[in-house]
Amino acid sequence: MRSVMKTIFEAKRRYAQLPLFDFMRDDSLPAADRLAFYPCMAPFIMAFGDLNKYVLRDEPASDRFQELVNAHTYEDDHHWPWYLEDFTALGYDRPTTPTQALHFLFSDQLQVNRMLMTQLAHLIYGATPVERLVIIEAIEETGNVLFDLTAKLARVIEAEQGVTLRYLGDFHFNLETGHAMGSDEHRVLAEIPLDDTQRARCLSLVQRVFGYFEAWTNELLSFAVAELDRRSLQPGIEVRELQRA
Ligand SMILES: [Fe+2]
Ligand SMILES: [Fe+2]
Repeated sequence: MRSVMKTIFEAKRRYAQLPLFDFMRDDSLPAADRLAFYPCMAPFIMAFGDLNKYVLRDEPASDRFQELVNAHTYEDDHHWPWYLEDFTALGYDRPTTPTQALHFLFSDQLQVNRMLMTQLAHLIYGATPVERLVIIEAIEETGNVLFDLTAKLARVIEAEQGVTLRYLGDFHFNLETGHAMGSDEHRVLAEIPLDDTQRARCLSLVQRVFGYFEAWTNELLSFAVAELDRRSLQPGIEVRELQRA
């Protein structure tokens, strides 16, 4: 399994260089603008609790690896209310009708965000408990890249606007690093012996998870660019250039 974990960390390094994260690191833009993708994440972030409760979790566990998967699902199944808190704190809670909200959530602009849950569920339903641990590890590493950056931006916005951002900020980031890094499941994972076929399956799952999340970041960036353009902000021009790069 060590080679699989090495592949996850290499994939994470490449993932961290995607255009969305360059956009989030662009100090020429105000912190709040660099989070302009926030509403676009809604379908996946809101579904992530269900992915943990109803897809990853399998009780009673069939073996000790599924027990680890189950324990993990209890860490990650209740974060979406914090996403909604920040939704309000960032000023996105504008007056709307339920029809308009549904129209937005099911628009083409959010298509990748809606499909991410389905794609991950497809992988997970056919995965062994060990493979589920690999999928979780890959998802956690994508989250680590994102939330490291959102936490930096959240600190700026919190200081400027006197709001608390529990989902985007240190509260969530610290919880996530607490259960992802240096955890028991990390150590147990590294020690699992794999034959060639099992290793090939795990490596393929890692590539697929990172591939899905790469597409996800691209949709978030497109949304952010369109949103900044819509607000007719000057930085929209720079952002468009960034996206083409
Ligand atoms: Fe989370
Ligand atoms: Fe997590």
